[in-house]
Amino acid sequence: MSHQSTLIADDIEQYLKEHENKDLLRFITCGSVDDGKSTLIGRLLHDSKMIYEDQLAAITRDSKKSGTTGDEVDLALLVDGLQSEREQGITIDVAYRFFSTDKRKFIIADTPGHEQYTRNMATGASTASLAIILIDARHGVQTQTRRHSFIADLLGIQHLIVAVNKMDLVGYSQERFNEIVAEYQEVAEKLHAHDIRFVPMSALKGDNVVNRSEVMDWYTVDGKPGPAMLELLETVEIRHDQNLRDLRLPVQYVNRPNLDFRGYAGTLAAGILHPGQVVRALPSGKTSRVERIVTFDGDLKAAYPGQAITVTLEDEIDISRGDWLVAEDDNVLLASGFEADIVWMHETPMEPGKLYDLKLATRDVAGKVTAIDYQVDVNTMAHRHAEYLDLNDIARCHVELTAPVPVDDYRTSPGTGSFIIIDRLTNITVAAGMIHQPLESELPYEYREHDSKANVVWNRTSVTQVMREQIKGHRGKCVWFTGLSGSGKSTLANALEVELNRRGYHTMLLDGDNIRHGLCKDLGMSEADRVENIRRVGEVARLFAEAGIVVITAFISPFRSERDDARKLFGEGDFIEVHVDTPLDVCEQRDPKGLYQKAREGTIKDFTGISSPYEVPRAAELTVNTAELSQQEVIGMLLKQL
Ligand code: ADX
Repeated sequence: MSHQSTLIADDIEQYLKEHENKDLLRFITCGSVDDGKSTLIGRLLHDSKMIYEDQLAAITRDSKKSGTTGDEVDLALLVDGLQSEREQGITIDVAYRFFSTDKRKFIIADTPGHEQYTRNMATGASTASLAIILIDARHGVQTQTRRHSFIADLLGIQHLIVAVNKMDLVGYSQERFNEIVAEYQEVAEKLHAHDIRFVPMSALKGDNVVNRSEVMDWYTVDGKPGPAMLELLETVEIRHDQNLRDLRLPVQYVNRPNLDFRGYAGTLAAGILHPGQVVRALPSGKTSRVERIVTFDGDLKAAYPGQAITVTLEDEIDISRGDWLVAEDDNVLLASGFEADIVWMHETPMEPGKLYDLKLATRDVAGKVTAIDYQVDVNTMAHRHAEYLDLNDIARCHVELTAPVPVDDYRTSPGTGSFIIIDRLTNITVAAGMIHQPLESELPYEYREHDSKANVVWNRTSVTQVMREQIKGHRGKCVWFTGLSGSGKSTLANALEVELNRRGYHTMLLDGDNIRHGLCKDLGMSEADRVENIRRVGEVARLFAEAGIVVITAFISPFRSERDDARKLFGEGDFIEVHVDTPLDVCEQRDPKGLYQKAREGTIKDFTGISSPYEVPRAAELTVNTAELSQQEVIGMLLKQL
């Protein structure tokens, strides 16, 4: 057999050709150098002939000089060259190594095993299908064994190989191996991964790494001699891991070289795509049919997950970067928020409430972590309370976005169910996240745009307006009376409340004069004070409506813009503006409090209708002229409206 590495150097074309039809397994090795990780990787590279002759000669020389393996070649030296480089600079956080056999191609993501490197492990594992968890047979299951297993599991890795290494140092004892397998069960119980295999091995001696061990003939699986590590790597079934049920093509960019061609380029994240297939664009929801699937090597009859393609459609529909193409009948949620597991990767701690940029598949959208549900102790999988997240912390968080976007669950579609968080100022990637569960497609009714002067976040409450309304048996609403002083607002509001009260509605009446005795006693009648008066009343009315109460307000509320602002605090149909349109001369004639007279005399300034404006509503739900209609008639109209 020609030396693989020589072939790569001499005839890369030939090499690639030999390998192009093999499938690829990406895996991650978890463990420290002490567990024999470097030796294991060295052994895999060496025994699969991926090492250059001169490299081998060099380490054979070095093994004699500085190796720790006696007469044997210290294969760890092959890998440790990179290790020391990494310790100095931290420039290489994850080292990727490539090797292949005649059955498969492999990419190993090798990450340092120390605790502070959760971030690196998350990076390495994000594209891996399998994780090798190394255990030193002398020490058994350690804290780091649990940590590695939990993180791998969190990242959705479905296949684990628990490699019990250094069996030579425990006399190849079957009993010891069984003990460790039993110990690991306690970890396995907490994992989602269902495919967990155990291999007793000695990377140093080469037992059960590439070749089956002769000394551990007790190692059997289903009554047959147990497979060596490489056999497992070559045969583990990963095809089923791919999501072929759903179709997901997140659009990376729109390719428009000339007026005749318009293609949507991206990497197919899930599903199989054919020309002729009807697809739906998200978030627009528009559908069209796939015309061509274009690649550098010509058009395709079908595209599979992982393939970079450009799709043309039969119709000109508006699709831009970040949009998704999905199958016509795929039920994808447009969500403005989700629950996610977040791995914090930066020295600057995460601040709940701070606005970050999120990159979800190919879409950029601003958002923030609004709450940390719990932090995960990666050593025990236990949950604990956290106010913020530090480097390498992992937590289940609530994330809220500034716009609704299509999202997936990470476990069904990792490509479209994961995201990264970028600091808006420094442009540095500060976290990676996995979507656990999209939240309601609309922001909760109670949610407010963040324009507070204080540094605050929106705390989602467990009991919502809808739940409160269910207890009351009716919706929370606002009937907003507006009109001149003396127009009859308070009288009508009072009569309406009496009627609603009789019918069993839970109501609250906010009356202008009364509110100015308490909540707004600091405000006068200047324009600015009236604006603030109405702002407060609008907010209070909304709170009552959130409590599921029908709230009735009676304020002059002379300015259109403040009334409109109050309206915006309510849902469609939940704000009923009633203009009590009593002519000024009638009000002045009534003058129940003698105020018009004082205003005319000049002892009260800024009096509405006399020396301060009243802006007549343009689109009130109801306009009533109390000079023409009886109170009963008005209440009848209002009850009908409600
Ligand atoms: S608002 O314009 O700020 O909404 P509001 O409804 O609270 O006015 O006013 C409550 C009551 O204040 C009025 O019904 C009236 O009896 C009394 N009032 C005292 N001064 C004035 C004034 N300058 N203009 C209008 N109403 C006044």
